[in-house]
Amino acid sequence: MKVAVVGTGYVGLVAGTCFAQTGNNVICVDVDEEKIEKLKQGVIPIYEPGLEEMVKQNVKEDRLSFTTDIAGAVRESLVIFIAVVWAVLTFALRWETGVAYLVGAATVSK
Ligand SMILES: NC(=O)c1ccc[n+]([C@@H]2O[C@H](COP(=O)([O-])OP(=O)(O)OC[C@H]3O[C@@H](n4cnc5c(N)ncnc54)[C@H](O)[C@@H]3O)[C@@H](O)[C@H]2O)c1
Repeated sequence: MKVAVVGTGYVGLVAGTCFAQTGNNVICVDVDEEKIEKLKQGVIPIYEPGLEEMVKQNVKEDRLSFTTDIAGAVRESLVIFIAVVWAVLTFALRWETGVAYLVGAATVSK
């Protein structure tokens, strides 16, 4: 199954990699161009046991890729997960700010 994960942070990268590991074709999307470029080069921005090896294996086997093209990823995918910043901003700033991030990601994804 083709899956897009919008937001390639702690949740998105780990979830997307696990979806790929279980046989899905996953496109991880982020607005952070530097992060996506590094991921394409095999530089993993966070540490979770076994994550780096799993990312590299799934990229090598063509089940996991990274992009900043949200619209393209969504068009190609049957299921879309949104894992952008929300709770931290919501607590630190205002509820509306967190919701705006979510709506922003969903709107761009159309
Ligand atoms: N980290 C946790 O332990 C945890 C636990 C429960 C729930 N959550 C929730 O999961 C979500 C993601 O959390 P996280 O810890 O992965 O955050 P994170 O900050 O590590 O990652 C979020 C990513 O989303 C990207 N992003 C922001 N706006 C975007 C957009 N419009 N389009 C594409 N990418 C965008 C950011 O560049 C960033 O890379 C949040 O809603 C958070 O509240 C996180």
